[in-house]
Order: sequence, then structure tokens, then C-alpha cells
Amino acid sequence: MGKLDGKVAVITGGTTGMALAGAKLFVAEGAHVFITGRRQEALDEAVRQIGRNVTGVQGDAADLDDLDRLYETVKREKGSLDVLWASAGGGEPALLGEITEAQFDTWFGLNARGTLFTVQKALPLLNDGGSILMTGSNASLGAFPGWSVYAGSKAVQQAWARIWLNELKDRRIRVNVLTPGQVATAKQEELFDEATKRRFESLIPRGRMGRPDEIATAALFLASDDSSYVNGMELVADGGTTAI
Ligand SMILES: NC(=O)c1ccc[n+]([C@@H]2O[C@H](COP(=O)([O-])OP(=O)(O)OC[C@H]3O[C@@H](n4cnc5c(N)ncnc54)[C@H](OP(=O)(O)O)[C@@H]3O)[C@@H](O)[C@H]2O)c1
Repeated sequence: MGKLDGKVAVITGGTTGMALAGAKLFVAEGAHVFITGRRQEALDEAVRQIGRNVTGVQGDAADLDDLDRLYETVKREKGSLDVLWASAGGGEPALLGEITEAQFDTWFGLNARGTLFTVQKALPLLNDGGSILMTGSNASLGAFPGWSVYAGSKAVQQAWARIWLNELKDRRIRVNVLTPGQVATAKQEELFDEATKRRFESLIPRGRMGRPDEIATAALFLASDDSSYVNGMELVADGGTTAI
């Protein structure tokens, strides 16, 4: 028996990285998964890799019309939803003094505004007893120079999880934040050279980055009834980086 048998899950930004690893695991545990991403080719490839019980919906998680289209598709194909993992997010470094309006608007537009509307627009479809998880970042817990816009745009989630679970308690919908540290993904490859990656790894007690599947198992815990008594919490999966 799977931990998500018969459940319907939406995962935004699910065509690569930890969310793709999560989508594969959710399907292996019995769910039907809707994944999103902006690039159609990457979406098609992810759907191919997952292989079954998956629907790819092209779209930008920062675009409210795209979010409407996503949920129209979920409603048409499955009628309702049990698990929402708002994972689409991103950032780029900029030191205070050099931050542009465009950088602020882009990353708050996706990580904060996009996440809020991803959750709000899902509400009419979410079944009672459902689980919402949002991908934060341990950048919000540390003091990494250059990452204030990114950290700020993710830090809102901890407040939202607590307020929303209170607003949704009559529907028994749980809201948690999954907070990864450095994880080896395509985005990492794009952003950081080898020396920067080694510098980040020197901050991790075990000396090497997380793997996408190590975040996927934490996401499965929060998505499934294994975490039925966990609500409004931040699960930090960063190998202890911000604990020491
Ligand atoms: N990697 C890390 O070390 C790390 C650490 C802490 C937190 N995080 C957070 O974890 C989440 C996933 O990061 P990742 O590194 O696994 O992934 P990633 O390699 O950056 O990409 C993940 C996916 O998100 C999609 N995506 C990006 N922007 C999107 C948008 N506006 N709308 C819809 N989909 C979008 C990408 O596809 P398209 O480009 O085709 O849209 C891709 O499928 C993000 O929220 C990130 O901030 C990452």
C-alpha cells in the first residue's frame, strides 16, 4: 500500500530538481501528480520520465492566468486535490546597495506573490484533510551575503503557514514549509562555479550537498498522513548547516 494511494497532488516547478524527484516518489506511492514548468520541452521530458499517473501543465507560477489554467485542468481531469506542493521558486545574488527593482519584483513576484496565489487559487479544489507544503530556503535562516532578496521572499512562508492553518483548521488542511539547504540541482549548476559550490559544501556538516531524492522523502512525509500531527512547521533539510 502506498502512502498517497488515490491522492491527487499538484507540484509547481516540477520538471527538474527536487520537485521532479518528489513527483516520481509521489507517483510511486500511489498519487496522480500534476506538474508545471515554463519550458514545454522540459515538461514533456519530465512527464516521460515519470511515465504514468502524471499530467504536465505548462505555465509560470508567477502568472495568475497560468495558475487559473492549471487549476481548471485539475478540476476537469480529477475534480479535486489532496496535496499542493508550491515548489516553483528561485533567486539570484545581489548585495545590498546593488539590488535592482527588477530583481526585487521578479523574485518576490515568484517566491512570495506567486506562492500566495498558487495556494489561494487551489483552495476551492482542496479536499478537507489536505496538505499544503511550500518550498522555502535555509537562506532565510542564515546570513548569507548577497541573498537578502531571495531570503526575504522565502521567509514570508513561515508566517503564512501559521496563519493559513489557523484559517483552514475547520477543513483540517495542514500547511507546512519544507526548507532545503544546498541541493545539487540544475539551478545550482547554472548559478555557481565549482569553487562556490565547494565553499557552500564547507558549511554543511557532512561536507557535501543534498540530493534531490533527500528532499523528495521529506516532501512525502509532509504530504502524507505520516505527518498528520505536524502543522505550521518548518522542516529544515539542510544537513544541519543552519543548526550549528
Ligand atoms: N537547489 C537548491 O540548493 C535550493 C535550496 C533551497 C531552496 N531551493 C528552492 O527549491 C525550489 C526548487 O529548486 P530546484 O533547485 O530544485 O529547482 P530548479 O532546478 O531551479 O528548477 C525547478 C523547476 O522549477 C521550474 N520553474 C522555475 N521557475 C518557474 C516558474 N516561474 N513557474 C513555474 N515553474 C518554474 C523549472 O522549470 P522551468 O524553468 O521550465 O520553468 C524547473 O522545473 C525553489 O523554490 C528553490 O528556490 C533550492
